[in-house]
Amino acid sequence: VRQDDFFEINSLAYPVFIGSKLWIRLREFVQPYLKPGGIFIFADQNTLKFCLPLLVENIPELGDHLSYAVMPGEESKDISGLEEVWNWLMKSGATRESLLVNLGGGVVSDLGGFAAATFHRGMPYINIPTSLIGQVDAAIGGKTGINVAGVKNQAGIFYDPLAVFIFPGFLATLPENHFMSGFAEIIKSALLAGKNSLHMLKANLNPGDESIFGHILETVKFKCDIVAKDPHDRSVRKILNFGHTIGHAFESLFNQNDMPGMLHGEAVAAGMICEALISSEINGLSKWEQNEIASLITKYFEIKPLEKKYFDNLMELLAHDKKRNSDRFKFTLLESPGKPCIDCSVGSESIIRALRSYNQIIEE
Ligand code: GLY
Repeated sequence: VRQDDFFEINSLAYPVFIGSKLWIRLREFVQPYLKPGGIFIFADQNTLKFCLPLLVENIPELGDHLSYAVMPGEESKDISGLEEVWNWLMKSGATRESLLVNLGGGVVSDLGGFAAATFHRGMPYINIPTSLIGQVDAAIGGKTGINVAGVKNQAGIFYDPLAVFIFPGFLATLPENHFMSGFAEIIKSALLAGKNSLHMLKANLNPGDESIFGHILETVKFKCDIVAKDPHDRSVRKILNFGHTIGHAFESLFNQNDMPGMLHGEAVAAGMICEALISSEINGLSKWEQNEIASLITKYFEIKPLEKKYFDNLMELLAHDKKRNSDRFKFTLLESPGKPCIDCSVGSESIIRALRSYNQIIEE
């Protein structure tokens, strides 16, 4: 597959366009809103600087419309970031008939989507994801929301965009660590999809190569198929949480004040190693497959150890997670690659054992 080709995925209630020739379709979409007060472009300061010019180069009329950028990074995805966007929309005269264009990564589509869902009780929006994580995951599926008190995605709503436009050219604007952060979601998708996808990933892929486009396309199609079956995350969509239960806790923990910080994908990479360990303890994943998963992930990611003194903090963060049921935790686990199971009940002792083994894997 070549990124010069143009793909339109129609399994969801709205189209997802992908490929470098999508400008014509994007222009068609924005056409009805090309009037004063019609379009509002929401970005972060990086995408405003590096991605908006590319957008305007291809659709010059967009240059006449207002844009607003929050600070880049997860810190903007909170109640004050949301208030910033509401204020901007209100003061600039946006209405329910205007279109919000989210130009950025997961923070921009989550926050902008939530602002669109709530501003004047819902205005239309489109997602133009510029990060790999946005392109293969965050911008697709209508999940919008913000973090509360440092805990991920505690408030939000399902609110579908009118369309998603995935332009691979934006990836060239990404720093390497952010690119790799999205690559974790590609690995996750391959683990869920099964042996063939996984086999392709093992074949000495250099994530920066153009061949990555085939993996992006596969991951997007896979996500669209799953979301189409379960848009509101009640059943099969929960498989997409693999690596995320522990991953979100890592992410919150490592982004606390005195900690070194961790991108979403790095946290998911760590989370997948831990959840594969739990899968092999209680869900029948073979030791051999668990090892394969750990070596696939450590091949691409420099995984950070979790000092023992933080185990309790991590357990507390897990307890805040939505996926909890009394003193047991609900996880998506693997029986084998391609065979995920949702709502698996896991006790805290298994989690602690997995964290210990996780640290040992890194030391090896
Ligand atoms: N990021 C997981 C989902 O959209 O369900």
